[in-house]
This record gives sequence, structure tokens and C-alpha cells, in this order.
Amino acid sequence: MSITILGIESSCDDTSAAVIRDGLLLSNVIASQKVHEEFGGVVPELASRAHQQNIVPVVDTAIKRAGIDKSELDAIAFTRGPGLLGSLLVGTSFAKGMSLGLRIPMVDVNHLHGHVLSHFIRKDAADKVPEYPFLCLLISGGNSQLILVRDFNDMEVLGQTIDDAAGEAFDKCAKVMGLPYPGGPHIDRLAAEGNAEKFKFAKPHIAGLDYSFSGLKTSFLYTLRDALRNDPEFIENNRADLAASLQKTIIDILLDKLHKAVKATGVKTVAIGGGVSANSGVRKAVADYCERHNLTAFIPERSFTTDNAAMVAIAGYYKYLSKDFCPYDAAPFARVTV
Ligand code: KG4
Repeated sequence: MSITILGIESSCDDTSAAVIRDGLLLSNVIASQKVHEEFGGVVPELASRAHQQNIVPVVDTAIKRAGIDKSELDAIAFTRGPGLLGSLLVGTSFAKGMSLGLRIPMVDVNHLHGHVLSHFIRKDAADKVPEYPFLCLLISGGNSQLILVRDFNDMEVLGQTIDDAAGEAFDKCAKVMGLPYPGGPHIDRLAAEGNAEKFKFAKPHIAGLDYSFSGLKTSFLYTLRDALRNDPEFIENNRADLAASLQKTIIDILLDKLHKAVKATGVKTVAIGGGVSANSGVRKAVADYCERHNLTAFIPERSFTTDNAAMVAIAGYYKYLSKDFCPYDAAPFARVTV
């Protein structure tokens, strides 16, 4: 008997719905909210209003594109947290209503589990998925974590950022360079044409497997401040080199702890996930690292790096198989760890 799951994601500024049948992706629809661009960051109240407008057409389109009828759904998986509370409330309430209406169970999904499990989304039955245990480097605008994944429901955070996330380092440095929000993709684009050795920025000395990115941010700022005193055009004249040097420093910091975690755990498989895993430099560095160390690398398709409901549906699929359902009084969580 086949199992068909609808996934709903509404934790931040993307409204998304996806349908997965027996682990195979049938549809994945994402409506990104443009309303935040002029504010240079996500405005929570505007985000929840946009989710309310988007959720019905997005879910409807996902079901239609999957070529199924809603009566064929076995369960509804939704992101319960972490994220913006108002945004999460929209997805949670919608999932409750639809689950009651269709008389099918609900499955709550931890957004971070979704990112980790995005490697199990298959478009084709022949697509490869990671073998447990594996190490996942989860890097996004809000998180930088090294997670040991023993099973779909058994994850241990071995290290995480003690201050800024990797995505924040990209975005905040990009902002002082005058680039639009979010700056990560702009740094990525500029870095491709720059000299990564031109500028040296501070790297943290943190014991264990934890990350820190705030020192790098400060060092980047001081470099700009000092240089701008002599050359008001400094940023314009060095855009690509600044971006390349910043990106290289972030990658070095990420890879340093990744290597330590690989040695400490002895895993044979490494995966990356989260918005920053869309970065060309990060993807290449992790792939090269794995090749040098005889490890299997799982680099997600770019559309699965940022927030999407396909990852919610796949995480929900595994929970559904273990009959781990969610009660109707479940409230969303703004903060929750892996
Ligand atoms: O996972 P995600 O979509 O959601 C949040 O955690 O909010 O990650 C968003 C982050 C942002 O910081 C964005 O700048 C970063 O991912 N990002 C990138 C790239 N694409 C997205 N950073 C560097 N290079 C990219 N190509």
C-alpha cells in the first residue's frame, strides 16, 4: 500500500507545500515573499500575513501538480518550529483544519530535522540516499550546526555556533558592502571573480566543535573602516576580492570543525544542508574535502537548500511510518533544537 504525505512549510518567509508518495517527490511548490526586500530583512508581521494569502493556492497547486486528489492523502506534515511564531501559526492552523476535514492524521516536523532529512527526498527510485550514521553540516541564516545523524529520529548536535550563524556572517558583511538582503547569494556571485587571498580576516579559536562567526564580522568591519579612511571608493574598487576573501574565510572556519567532527566520529558520509549550502564555494570545498578523505558527500540540489516543504514531507513520511502522530492541541515552537 502506498503512503502519500502532504508537507507544509511556513516557518519564515517562504510558503511551501509538497507531496511525497513512498519517499518519491510528486510536487514541491514554493511562494517566496517579496514584501520584505525593501526592509532589508524579514518583517515577522508581514510574513504571517503573506503566508495567510499564499497558503490556500500553494497547497492547491501542490496537490494538482502531484496529479492526485486530496482524498488520496494519508497524512499532513507541517513545520512546528523553530521559526517565526506568527508564520508557524498559519501552517499549523491550516494543517489542523485540513487534517480534521479529511480525517487523516497530522505529523509535526522540526524544521531542522527537515533540512537534515532533505537528502532522503528522491525524484527517482534509483536516487541514492545517505547511510546512517552520517554527519550533517547544517548552515543557514539562523543555524550553524554539526549534527551526528544516527537515524531519522536520532540526531545529536556535536557543535554549533556560539554567536552568529554562517548565513548571518554572509548577510551582515554583505550589508556593510551595500549589497541587498539576503547578501549570501550576492557574495557567492561576486566571489567567483575575486582574489580570495587578497584580504585576511580573523578566524576564531574556539575549543571543541562549536563555531563562532562574530569575530570574523568585526574583523571585516575594521578592515573596511580603516581602508575607507584612505580610499572612499575602497568597497567599489575591491568588491569581488572582498567577497572572495570573506567567503574563503567562512569556508575555512566551516571545514576546520567539520574535519574535527569527522575524525571524532569516524563517519564515512558527510552531508550539508540549509541556505548556505547553496553557496558554490562551500559546495565545492565539501565535495573536494570528501574526495580527499574517501568520504561519500551528499550535496543537496539547490532547490532543497532553502526552506521548502519537500523536506517537511519526507521527514513527516518517516514519522508517519513509525506512527508518530501529532495531537490537535499542538502549538508551534519559536525555538527548538535538534
Ligand atoms: O535556510 P535558509 O533559507 O533560512 C534561514 O535560516 O533563514 O538560509 C538563508 C541563508 C541566508 O543567510 C542567505 O544569505 C544564505 O542562506 N544563502 C547563501 C546563499 N544562498 C542563500 N549564502 C551564501 N551563498 C549562497 N549562494
